[in-house]
Amino acid sequence: MLVFTSFSCHCLTLLTRTRLPSSFQSSIADLCFRAARSAVLRSGGRIFEAASIILGMTQDELKALVGRAALDFVEPGTVVGVGTGSTVNFFIEALGGMKDRIAGAVSSSSKSTERLQALGIPVLDSNTVERIPVYVDGADEIDPCGHMIKGGGAALTREKIVADLAERFVCIADESKLVPVLGPFPLPVEVIPMAAAQIARRFQAMGGNARLRDGVITDNGNQILDVHGLQIANPLAMETEINQWPGVVTVGIFARHKARVCLLGTAEGVKRMDF
Ligand code: 5RP
Repeated sequence: MLVFTSFSCHCLTLLTRTRLPSSFQSSIADLCFRAARSAVLRSGGRIFEAASIILGMTQDELKALVGRAALDFVEPGTVVGVGTGSTVNFFIEALGGMKDRIAGAVSSSSKSTERLQALGIPVLDSNTVERIPVYVDGADEIDPCGHMIKGGGAALTREKIVADLAERFVCIADESKLVPVLGPFPLPVEVIPMAAAQIARRFQAMGGNARLRDGVITDNGNQILDVHGLQIANPLAMETEINQWPGVVTVGIFARHKARVCLLGTAEGVKRMDF
């Protein structure tokens, strides 16, 4: 399985270096993806199984499954990095059961902070923490290399900050989040309000359609643009490029801070992917 996923990942990386038309790149990427995905879903070898055969699970049940499975990555006595979102909420709930065995949490949003504190888990100021062994967070999309789109919950900036403190990003997601090429999910970008229109024009020039997320102000007092219609064949290059634009606070591509492990909730149980 690992050979297949890493083969798929290498193929995708090589593809991004070719000059083939992007539609052709997408078709090849799709083939690589299908091979890797079927390897992930069929293999019973090194894949971590939380349950043997689980049929007919709802998306929430799959999220709960991976939320609980992520507890195995928490190192007793250490500070845990905690992400944001409905999948992470299940992780937080499970973490409550071992609150006396951890040193506390660094949180990526006020919503997660509230939940952690309600369970009696101390939330530490990120500036007082030098090392976090593990950061557990969800994703809106993850590709076969561990690159992700994040920010559906508007917490992307703090999520990237906590991910940067962490040695290992453990992504928890249901299998609908695994895609061959990032982009079907509109890319969230946190922007300084006075730059929003100019940044939207820049996205238009690269084929994207940026829309302001109505009524949303981030924990940092900024706005979110959701960019539709992008095909992110080279996440690292696109993240690097967008990061340079004046007024961009954070782009929701997590390639520099990609997942090292993904626990994928599937109808057959929790599948583990290492990147
Ligand atoms: C929040 C995020 C979340 O991790 C992402 O939106 C996934 O959320 P969910 O677990 O609810 O599907 O990036 O900013």
